[in-house]
Amino acid sequence: MDALEALLTRRSIRKYRDEEVTENDVDLLLQAAMAAPSAMNEQPWHFVVIRDRSVIEAIHEKHPSAEMLLQAKVVIAVCGDVTKENHPGYWVVDCSIATTHILLAAHARKLGAVWLGIYPREERMELVRDALKLPKNIQPLSLVAIGHPAEIKEPPEREQPDRIHRDSW
Ligand SMILES: Cc1cc2nc3c(=O)[nH]c(=O)nc-3n(C[C@H](O)[C@H](O)[C@H](O)COP(=O)(O)O)c2cc1C
Repeated sequence: MDALEALLTRRSIRKYRDEEVTENDVDLLLQAAMAAPSAMNEQPWHFVVIRDRSVIEAIHEKHPSAEMLLQAKVVIAVCGDVTKENHPGYWVVDCSIATTHILLAAHARKLGAVWLGIYPREERMELVRDALKLPKNIQPLSLVAIGHPAEIKEPPEREQPDRIHRDSW
């Protein structure tokens, strides 16, 4: 699958087969994440690869929109080191791009993945900070649930010509 096809056909996948996701695949997803652009190339990201079911279940119990975690074979928490940002807020932008790279790389590897929103919801951030024992300078941005897809979704149809402006509004 080339990059454009991955971009145009990716969907959130929330149902997974009972089949392991290899470390090799996880390494590729992390490599893709760390290939992302970042403000002033600060690369403020850290990734916590979660396979321990007790940790996944602890997050699932308290996250209101995370049923898919129970089927996911691996979850990647994308976090930012706030001491690395040159301007307030850039860690969020940088870690969001890294999260998107993971989603696209997963799709390109024929895995299914979905972004679980953590930042900026303080109660969810606290939950992830506690579950993963994050140090004070590390803030959680997202969780990505990953598995082999057990659902097929059509490519999105989101073309909105009225959202496109040329030369000025
Ligand atoms: C910042 C952000 C937070 C999200 N949080 C959740 C979530 O907590 N639970 C969930 O099931 N999906 C979550 N999603 C996935 C969106 O629901 C999904 O991307 C959207 O419905 C579009 O569908 P698609 O990804 O299949 O194109 C999140 C996506 C983003 C970008």
